[in-house]
Amino acid sequence: MLVDGDARVACVTPAARIAGRSVTTLAGLGPSVQEPLADAFVATGGSQCGFCTPGILVRLAALFAKHKIAPADLERALAAHLCRCTGWQTITEAVDLARDPGRDGAEPRDLMAAARRAELEGGSPQGVGRWTPLGDAGFADDTAPRDALVAVPRPPGSAAEAVDASGIAWVIGETLDDARRRAGKVQGRRSTVADTPPLPFPDLPTGGVRLATSWVEPGYLEPDASWCQPAGTPATPLANGGAFGGKTESPVGPAARILADQLGRTVRTVFAREDVVRLGPKRPPIAASAVAEAGRVVIRGVSPGAAPSYESPYEGLAVAIEWAAAAIPGPPVSTALRAAGRAELTVLVEGAIDAAGWDRSELVGSDDRSRAVLLDTLAVAESGARAGARVGVDDTTGIVSGIEVRVDAGDPLDPVVLRSYAIGAAHMALGWVLSEGIAVDPETGEVLDLTIRSFGIVRPKSMPPVLVEIVPGDGPAVPGGSDAVFAAVAAATWNAVARIEGVRPERFPAAETRAARMLRR
Ligand code: FES
Repeated sequence: MLVDGDARVACVTPAARIAGRSVTTLAGLGPSVQEPLADAFVATGGSQCGFCTPGILVRLAALFAKHKIAPADLERALAAHLCRCTGWQTITEAVDLARDPGRDGAEPRDLMAAARRAELEGGSPQGVGRWTPLGDAGFADDTAPRDALVAVPRPPGSAAEAVDASGIAWVIGETLDDARRRAGKVQGRRSTVADTPPLPFPDLPTGGVRLATSWVEPGYLEPDASWCQPAGTPATPLANGGAFGGKTESPVGPAARILADQLGRTVRTVFAREDVVRLGPKRPPIAASAVAEAGRVVIRGVSPGAAPSYESPYEGLAVAIEWAAAAIPGPPVSTALRAAGRAELTVLVEGAIDAAGWDRSELVGSDDRSRAVLLDTLAVAESGARAGARVGVDDTTGIVSGIEVRVDAGDPLDPVVLRSYAIGAAHMALGWVLSEGIAVDPETGEVLDLTIRSFGIVRPKSMPPVLVEIVPGDGPAVPGGSDAVFAAVAAATWNAVARIEGVRPERFPAAETRAARMLRR
């Protein structure tokens, strides 16, 4: 928002601080300002779920009005924002295009096809058009009737008024403010406790690679929300984006229905950021090893939740997996989160191949589709979409200098959207390997890092350029191209860091490596 013409971050500005001052949101800027900015974001794929974009557009409008368009101005400006979907590069491209709209020589696009690709990648319906960057994508909490009761999760230790089928206790109010006052706020905080991988390595085959990870927060930006009338159908919390699988089993919809039926009134269920972190599913931690021997890779591992599924992407390589379930205190986990389990096994297989010095081009055999995407790594998503990646890390400085990706998701439908998803997945993979983690109390399993700034998500200024080549498959469009990119980039990052460190990190995030330190600068 603009406060007396200056951009301010609305989500952390107390209303009392702006009493008596002039406030302008994106809606107040008018079409002549809104539309060129929104069109630039659509043209580059700089907006996916769209939750972060209206704030960025307001910030840009303020900068442009003051003719502050030097790269340093824009870098500083974007540092105030968070985008989990796009990986920033397409946002930077949109900024460049908005500054100089004459540069847009793009071919006309079929935005219905673009929306179909977005749905295939995001796992839920997603609109592609001017309305998304303008904030009108239809988020569940925006569509709730104003007179609905509001239910918020009870913080630990406070009294509840209703319990839903998933065991979450809710506090009800006439308004959000009322409900939150009565519930008491779980204060957002960043812990000083280390985010240590919780599982010990199982007995290991000797001579291979090993990897331990911790719980990983998906970090989607739009907190879970729903609403429902008595005996009605709950509003989906996935109105414009899939939250990387993090809302697939969100309790807010079923809870809204149960509470509406109990109370005889429409009920709106709303998570705060801290609730998402406390109650939402995480990528399961693992501890595993992999060794390449006699034409096969043997993996032994352990994790909470279901054993991961994986098939060797190489014709000339068998993969044998022994996996055990571990019961440890911690937040809920879900294998619905982006390629969870499969990406970990891809990383282990690619690490073992690297450690053995095997030539991947020989392992691929006659598989033309895999050969077409193969770079330094190869990953295949559950859908059959595949990707290869190469990650450059400067030997002297440790800076991740660039990421190269090839992706085959069948018919791309819309290269702009597929490219945007691929860059977003590369950004997430880099963070997973080098910087992302949340601290969890080892005794109680309680999540201790409760602010989105504490997750270690790679900042815009630290994101290296990503070069994406879309390899058109000859079949129909398949989902999961970005899942394959995520796994391929994670594997390539781990291998590149092992090469320049001279020793392979055994944990994610590999926070003590030079590459990780350079990302945090
Ligand atoms: Fe930025 Fe989704 S488009 S958070």
